[in-house]
Amino acid sequence: MRRILKKNKAFTFQPFSQKQLKLLNWWREGSPNHDKDMIIADGSIRSGKTIACICSFLLFTQETFKDGENFILAGKTMGALKKNVVKPMIQILTAWGWTYNYNRSENYIEIGNSTYYMYGANTEASQDALQGLTAAGAYADEAALFPQSFIDQMIGRCSVEGAKIFMNCNPESPHHYIKIEFIDKAMEKNVYHLHFTMNDNLSLSQKVKDRFKRMFTGVFFKRFILGLWVASDGLIYQQFADSPDEYIIDDEWLKEHPIVVGTIGVDFGGNTSAHSFKFTGFTHGFKEVVTIMEYYRHERINPDQLNNDFIDFVKRVQSKYKCYEAYCDSAEQTLISGIESAVIKAGITIDIKNAIKGPINDRIAFYNSMMAQGRYKIHKSCTHLKSAFEEAVYDEKQVTKDVRLDDGMMDIDSLDSQEYSTEYIQDDIMYINVV
Ligand SMILES: Nc1ncnc2c1ncn2[C@@H]1O[C@H](COP(=O)(O)OP(=O)(O)OP(=O)(O)O)[C@@H](O)[C@H]1O
Ligand SMILES: [Mg+2]
Repeated sequence: MRRILKKNKAFTFQPFSQKQLKLLNWWREGSPNHDKDMIIADGSIRSGKTIACICSFLLFTQETFKDGENFILAGKTMGALKKNVVKPMIQILTAWGWTYNYNRSENYIEIGNSTYYMYGANTEASQDALQGLTAAGAYADEAALFPQSFIDQMIGRCSVEGAKIFMNCNPESPHHYIKIEFIDKAMEKNVYHLHFTMNDNLSLSQKVKDRFKRMFTGVFFKRFILGLWVASDGLIYQQFADSPDEYIIDDEWLKEHPIVVGTIGVDFGGNTSAHSFKFTGFTHGFKEVVTIMEYYRHERINPDQLNNDFIDFVKRVQSKYKCYEAYCDSAEQTLISGIESAVIKAGITIDIKNAIKGPINDRIAFYNSMMAQGRYKIHKSCTHLKSAFEEAVYDEKQVTKDVRLDDGMMDIDSLDSQEYSTEYIQDDIMYINVV
């Protein structure tokens, strides 16, 4: 086998907490939970679930299946998996002195005789790829952000005798399928449930824990900090709705806080929805996220008009700011192609990309956190987005999921386009200045 020994930073371990040790060793003979088929580690953010889960999964797979098997590594998106799991995993392998072959383009890692295939749970292609696999184990990071179909498929693939499934997640709604199907039915489904709080991560100082606590408000505080499966209700952006003026900025503010670079988010309208573009700028070091310009058009327009309006918008943005990318609703490939040709024809330099369209809750949590941290601002001219943030509510009829009410009155289009403009970077900038 070809082995690549790259110079990677080795993970610097600090002592594992008792909870982490349980997660590390549950599958071993002699452990009271040895016979369980699955472990779910849930709880607060930054509580040490992922690190302990990676170590446990590596040890379980390598010690149990010495002749080699296939294994599944899954994250909410491929990008998140690479950043949150594969990166620390490589550092852990380096610290342990294990050799590996990481195929970055084909998305798999070979260790010993075993192959670990990587999947982003948010794409149809991943689900299709999973279908052909027979695996002896799976690791799902942030599993509550996966579609249930992916989790079901993943479990179905683990048909090798002795296979075990490792999942971790932050809590969501108490009606979430992970809570109902696996945690509440842990005995029946032979699941070992381990609950984590930040105190189970001995590498965090009190100061850092206190800073994390200030990162979220409302239902996200209860879920991500207290680690509770609690329901969302009412206003989605309560803090914004309570005092919108705290977030509104004008041209004076922009002069004092120069925008280094920015991105455009595009949501295309349909029969009842609007075309919406947002330009979001970032101040130095991604400290602040600022919605600076918006376009919003509810009436039906033909594709040529849409292209012209987009070009005007980009010109308006680029006359003042650096902007190299636009993330567009990927459900509308024809409109995206039209825009792509139109910008080339107009001689405008901007990369037209597909929006990631990861879990909506994840995007909502990002804005909740940026608002709580005082790092989100909106220019006073962006009146549609301001109203959208103020008015957005959860749909009471769909309590099993956190769904935004979309009754034709709510401006979901402004929220979507805003989120597309930051989604590609949200996980990287949320914790800036916290740790
Ligand atoms: N035993 C350890 N030694 C050194 N660092 C650790 C250890 N356990 C956790 N950490 C560090 O603490 C931080 C949080 O840990 P981890 O990512 O495992 O938490 P998590 O519970 O998965 O968080 P989230 O819910 O936000 O994904 C990381 O930077 C991780 O490297
Ligand atoms: Mg994690």
